[in-house]
Amino acid sequence: MTKSNLFKWLGISGSVLAFACALALPGRAMTKEEAHQKAEVLLKKMTLDEKIGQLNQSSGIQMPMLGNEKPDGLIEQGRVGSILWLTNVQEINRLQHLAVEKSRLHIPILFAFDVIHGYRTVFPVPLAMASSWDPNVEREAQHYAAEDARAAGIRWTFTPMVDIARDARWGRIVEGAGEDPYLGSAMARAQVEGFQGSEIGPDSVVACVKHFAGYGAAEGGRDYDSSYMPEELMQNVYLRPFHAAEQAGAGTFMSAYMDLNDVPASGNHWLLTDVLRKDWGFKGFVVSDAFAVKNLETHGYAKDSSDAAYKAIMSGLDMDMASQTYTNNLAALVKAGKVPESTIDNAVLPILAIKYELGLFEHPYVDESKVEATLNRPEGLVLERKIAGKSMVLLKNENETLPLKANLKKVAVIGPLANSTHDIEGGWTVEGLFGNGSKSHPATVLAGLKNRLGPDADITFVPGPEIGRVYPGLLDQMSGRKPPAPPTEAEIAETLAKVKAAAANADVVVAVMGETSNMSSEAASRAMLNLPGIQEQMLKTALASGKPVVLVLENGRPLDLHWEAKHIPAILEAWYPGTEGGNAVADVLFGQVNPGGKLPVSFPRSSGQEPLHYNHNLTHEPETSPTFNSRYEDVLSTPLYPFGYGLSYTTFKFSNLKLSRSSMKVGETSEVSVDVTNTGSVGGDEVAQVYIHQRYGSASRPVRELKGFKRITLAPGETKTLTFPLGTSELEFWSPQTKKWAVEPSTFDVWAGGDSTASLHTELQVTE
Ligand code: BGC
Repeated sequence: MTKSNLFKWLGISGSVLAFACALALPGRAMTKEEAHQKAEVLLKKMTLDEKIGQLNQSSGIQMPMLGNEKPDGLIEQGRVGSILWLTNVQEINRLQHLAVEKSRLHIPILFAFDVIHGYRTVFPVPLAMASSWDPNVEREAQHYAAEDARAAGIRWTFTPMVDIARDARWGRIVEGAGEDPYLGSAMARAQVEGFQGSEIGPDSVVACVKHFAGYGAAEGGRDYDSSYMPEELMQNVYLRPFHAAEQAGAGTFMSAYMDLNDVPASGNHWLLTDVLRKDWGFKGFVVSDAFAVKNLETHGYAKDSSDAAYKAIMSGLDMDMASQTYTNNLAALVKAGKVPESTIDNAVLPILAIKYELGLFEHPYVDESKVEATLNRPEGLVLERKIAGKSMVLLKNENETLPLKANLKKVAVIGPLANSTHDIEGGWTVEGLFGNGSKSHPATVLAGLKNRLGPDADITFVPGPEIGRVYPGLLDQMSGRKPPAPPTEAEIAETLAKVKAAAANADVVVAVMGETSNMSSEAASRAMLNLPGIQEQMLKTALASGKPVVLVLENGRPLDLHWEAKHIPAILEAWYPGTEGGNAVADVLFGQVNPGGKLPVSFPRSSGQEPLHYNHNLTHEPETSPTFNSRYEDVLSTPLYPFGYGLSYTTFKFSNLKLSRSSMKVGETSEVSVDVTNTGSVGGDEVAQVYIHQRYGSASRPVRELKGFKRITLAPGETKTLTFPLGTSELEFWSPQTKKWAVEPSTFDVWAGGDSTASLHTELQVTE
């Protein structure tokens, strides 16, 4: 008996029963098989329009540029499978009631949002969390974010972004884990586990791995621009974190906006079907990026919107985000025999199955009475502060400028970001999007210093002129954030005079500088990576006072700090550290937390070096040789701060690098072991890193590749011995000549140390 027949038989309306079930039945984890079977049964009852409805993700906000109306009518007809960009829980419930009670088959809507780094409690931006080099940080943060999101009705998040980014000009570098596929894979897995748990169930928020694939290699670092990439680079670098996330059980993928080798990713059969489904065996569903199906016309790939729908669905793209191209075209394409109905069925099935796995049919509604209590859980702030502290990277600390003395009384705080609640949490804050206004109360660095030093402290604050984007993005327009007017000569002179006076009166100057949060992220690429505005002039004025200057950076990408690195005695990379960010910065500045983060990206000496990454090939003489090397005439080719780099208030020594066997056959594993000792006088964290280099084979291999890491805490004088496997998964690569994955017989260099320039070395022989 079908559900609707059952309702008739019972003589009560479906809506009453559905509502009663929704409130009364406890959630029960359903196996993947059960969910799939239920989805198949349901699919058989669906009309073509209802099936296509499941492939339609409607916008929860109405915008003139979308030309859309409230989705009520479509929902009642069963023609909306998912809704995004809606966080108002009353509205979520209202629309869900329409779907569950008014649509013929009572299929609940899957509400989705970009819960990227927290919901009400905002964690550090993803690039910062990757700087912790501790996957538990990501797992814990995303698990907490999932609890918040679920309580607020969001069961699907467009996270993790696992795009490898080797070009600091690209604004979206802030959303990922940086330049390395090994670190990126670890962070990708941890985020999927954080959101979904070990598998998708009633407590999960489904993860969406994005942007599939190659988006981070946009030409010139310009967002949305084309990527041109040979398959070996795709396989060995860009696809790896995606595959790791898929293996961790990610339920969904999002296709990228750009062309990959001239074929748009959202209509790319090789990516969406050959790699994702055939090679990897992915069983979930793929959603387009926003409007990306319609955009296939813009790319000059689709003739019209019908052709766009055709090319997208036939390439393996299941759900159309916001563009309504599927809703408007797929039925006609099926009726004309161009798209087989079985293709539609294959797209619908995993969507229904995930709704069953989530327990959405049993529990479609949000308990509105519990939302605020969940979102305001105090333990979230404690966790956030801990995670923010773990994510910061100490870039420079000359003459032990840091940590600051606890009894410090006179501080000059300068810089436009020092008291900006708008920026400390970074971009992509759920409540901050669309100009809603976040309900969190973030602690800025100024607030954090005041909290730390107490009411008697003498703190002088000189913000200086506002900085910001020159061309405001869509979200800025919606939130009313305007580009700052360039300061006049008089304003500059006044600011510098204030800095001079404040510094003269202070024991230390804390400069909080960088980029506003909207200067990185989507559609926020920069050609110049210097500190914008007059921040450098303010630093120079502060330095001229002779007082120690500490630079705290809030930014979303590697910056060109060549001047700062030379002149400023202490530099702390805080990224956008989140709701408790200011308190966490104070924890680190005063030594309550010893910084242990490491860079997941190389910092350049000049913007002109981009794209810059440590794992490049050596094609001629090394850059240290006097002739015929690949260095620039005017700037060294090496980074200012290398990948994996970060200081501590203590020092560490690596020794005793050994292999369990120095020679082995293909397919065997050798254990690398190394001793790490805290040689300083305070406890601290070190990230032990293992790098390899294959000396010869069927293709040139990078000069170094990360193949193992562990963040550990060591008391003064303490030594720990760490081991890392070097086996097939570490040594194999995809060869452009053999077109397959294999470990090749060769000599491998092995290094261990605290960053990608580690010098402790040994060799591993791998034979047939
Ligand atoms: C972004 C995605 C995001 C989506 C939904 C797009 O513009 O590229 O990363 O998930 O919008 O908000």
